[in-house]
Amino acid sequence: MKAHSDIKRIMFSARQIQERVKQVADEITQDYKGKRPLIAGVLKGAWIFVADLLRQVELDVDVDFICVASYGGGRTYTSGEVTLLKDLTLDCKGRDVILVEDIVDSGITLSRIKEMLLERKANSVRIAALLSKPSRRKVNVEINYLGFEVPDEFVVGYGMDFDEKFRTLQDICVLKKEAYSS
Ligand code: IMP
Ligand code: MG
Repeated sequence: MKAHSDIKRIMFSARQIQERVKQVADEITQDYKGKRPLIAGVLKGAWIFVADLLRQVELDVDVDFICVASYGGGRTYTSGEVTLLKDLTLDCKGRDVILVEDIVDSGITLSRIKEMLLERKANSVRIAALLSKPSRRKVNVEINYLGFEVPDEFVVGYGMDFDEKFRTLQDICVLKKEAYSS
């Protein structure tokens, strides 16, 4: 791991992540046999998860990305407002979509995106999330494929950031409170 004084501890090592990602990929491969799902990665946090997951999924897939923001710079909780910064480029009408997200916290981001894709007449929308913090949920959102359930601690690494930092850490790490509560 790249040493960093703001990191409290490793929650999941790169190796643990890879093992779990493979299991999640196998579930998706089974469930979508004979289909060609549209994978919609949620930027920016999910970029590494999408890359690792899809290289383990044994299906033909279309890959696209949507970029939303719900945190203002330097915050660790959602503002409740989800702003669409970059839309999908592919048409999701009639498609079986799998939304791929790094972490489900309040659930607001994913429930908004899912609602939007269903309004656009996607045939189905399922959710694959690497992490979920159930204790922080504000709206109910069904996670169809989940990597790990985590406690209410702010995590970074493996694509996830705090104020755009720490995304390239290989492990999923807990950030020291002092790093964001100053
Ligand atoms: P939600 O709308 O509250 O579910 O927020 C989800 C988004 O907030 C996720 O896609 C992440 O980008 C971000 N987020 C939530 N918790 C964390 C965390 O612990 N570390 C980094 N990003 C987080
Ligand atoms: Mg995210």
